Amino acid sequence: MSSLADKLRQLQADAEQAFESASDSNAVEALRVRFLGAKQGLLKTLQKEMGGVAKEEKPDVGKLFNETKQRLTGLLEAAQARLDSQAAPQSAEWFDPTLPGRVMGRLAPARLGRLHPITQTMEELKEIMGRLGFTVADGPEIEDERHNFEALNIPREHPARDPLDNFYLKAAAGSAAGSGGQLLLRSQTSTVQIRVMETTPPPIRIISLGRVYRPDTADATHYPMFHQMEGLLVDERVTLTDLKATLTMFAQSYLGSGVEIRFRPSFFPFTEPSVEVDMSWNGGWLEVGGAGMVDPNVLAAVGYDPEAVTGFAFGLGVERLCMRRHGVSDIRDLFKNDVRLLGQF
Ligand code: FA5
Repeated sequence: MSSLADKLRQLQADAEQAFESASDSNAVEALRVRFLGAKQGLLKTLQKEMGGVAKEEKPDVGKLFNETKQRLTGLLEAAQARLDSQAAPQSAEWFDPTLPGRVMGRLAPARLGRLHPITQTMEELKEIMGRLGFTVADGPEIEDERHNFEALNIPREHPARDPLDNFYLKAAAGSAAGSGGQLLLRSQTSTVQIRVMETTPPPIRIISLGRVYRPDTADATHYPMFHQMEGLLVDERVTLTDLKATLTMFAQSYLGSGVEIRFRPSFFPFTEPSVEVDMSWNGGWLEVGGAGMVDPNVLAAVGYDPEAVTGFAFGLGVERLCMRRHGVSDIRDLFKNDVRLLGQF
């Protein structure tokens, strides 16, 4: 074989020794340039000699050249990896995320984060209602007037639509109001009743939990953003007794077996009859929401036959339930995000 083959073998041997004894990254870099440099590296220089190799030797020498190149590249990578693994613990940038934190030089025990009490409450409510056969439905927080009012039997001149009682959104410049009318932040989760009935034939048995918005002045029991749990059950021969039984079972599961439930006559445009729902608490009554039998107009508006099916619906304030259950006396405390309060849940 030509002397080029000998030179290539010698190059491998030299490189092995050199890379294995390199003790820092500067040395490795210098060796990379010396052996593998694109312009004047030793390998490149030998490559130029390939032209002078006899024709019959070319395949073997060419193969040896490729092996040498691979071997050198492997030696370079191994040297880099060896130095990286040695250097890492001493490097100023080394960070061990498993070490416990320190506060003022002292070890600080790691404290776990947790879910917000309202999120925890909603998870529990879903669990309880799930046991009663209700599945969870979802709807958008930005709604149109059709779903927030019209389809819920709240006509155009109704005071509930007053701009002072709702967060209407300015239409984006150039955009025409959609067929559903102006957009607003939904003021109640009853919007989801419509969205579900529009797309699903009866029977229906759903709950929907989420944020709603009203320009109410914040006080101990009101906040401009709060959460509701909507419930809707539509089927053949559903009665007010079913509504009362469902809410009683729910209340007993969430607040304990001794809790009592009371209906007071009320008015909602989308239910007939309508009731306010109170739950007994500490010798008194707590208003937790509204409810009633779905108005036949609402059933007809979504294409159901009010002669064939009936339904009940309810909307409960999640904060009110959470506050009573945990003895929080001011709703604003739930939204201050003070870890001294949140840490108790
Ligand atoms: C409604 O929102 C109806 N959509 C409920 C309903 C659903 C009736 C289905 C019939 C059928 P109301 O405006 O009363 O109803 O609100 C329901 C509950 O939300 C209240 O009882 C209260 O618990 C809670 N709530 C109302 N306003 C606030 C507020 N600003 N801050 C905190 N909770 C509130």
